Amino acid sequence: MKGPILSGKRIKLQPIKLSDAPDFIRWFSDKEVAVYLLRQTPMTLSEEKKWIKKILRAKDKIIWSIFNEKGRLIGNTGLTIDAKNKAASFGIMIGEKGEWGKGYAGECLKIIGNFVFIKLKYNRLELEVYMKNKRALRVYEKAGFLLEGVKRQKLKNAITKKFEDAGIMSILSKEWKF
Ligand SMILES: CC(C)(COP(=O)(O)OP(=O)(O)OC[C@H]1O[C@@H](n2cnc3c(N)ncnc32)[C@H](O)[C@@H]1OP(=O)(O)O)[C@@H](O)C(=O)NCCC(=O)NCCS
Repeated sequence: MKGPILSGKRIKLQPIKLSDAPDFIRWFSDKEVAVYLLRQTPMTLSEEKKWIKKILRAKDKIIWSIFNEKGRLIGNTGLTIDAKNKAASFGIMIGEKGEWGKGYAGECLKIIGNFVFIKLKYNRLELEVYMKNKRALRVYEKAGFLLEGVKRQKLKNAITKKFEDAGIMSILSKEWKF
């Protein structure tokens, strides 16, 4: 599904385009960026373009590209929508490592949370995260997400080749700081 353009103080979220694919595959091929992604398999350019077309056709998925205040493509973020239960699950990748630690993920989560709770009027936003991904855990805790539980060794990490723990986190509409 193609999402709306959303803007924050510094960043702008735009629906993904086929021309974004070369940056996406470059990020995926960087192990430091990809090690804690739920989708870790690097794609070829044509596979990545097929994936983008599939996402744009899907009724339950919205992916945006993230542009910073300089207009630079720095990552992507997305939602899987569960309309029946008024719930959505969230994912994010700041693919440009040089842009980590500048608060972009926190700002992105604020924009997406407002979209989910104000625009869609949904009840729940959830996510899954590698428990080793301390940077991501910090972003989610700061936004008010609660750790509901840990699924032990749920994820077979394609990069470390190990079974690793996955945290399930969520925030409800009534808890969201608008
Ligand atoms: C995880 C990720 C989204 C964070 O993006 P970001 O823009 O760097 O995040 P922010 O700058 O908004 O916040 C990072 C926070 O983590 C903190 N942090 C950085 N390294 C940390 C560490 N090793 N342990 C704990 N906290 C850490 C920062 O200090 C900051 O917190 P603060 O605002 O209280 O100072 C980004 O690193 C990324 O995309 N990584 C690769 C893909 C990925 O892991 N995606 C998440 C999948 S669930």
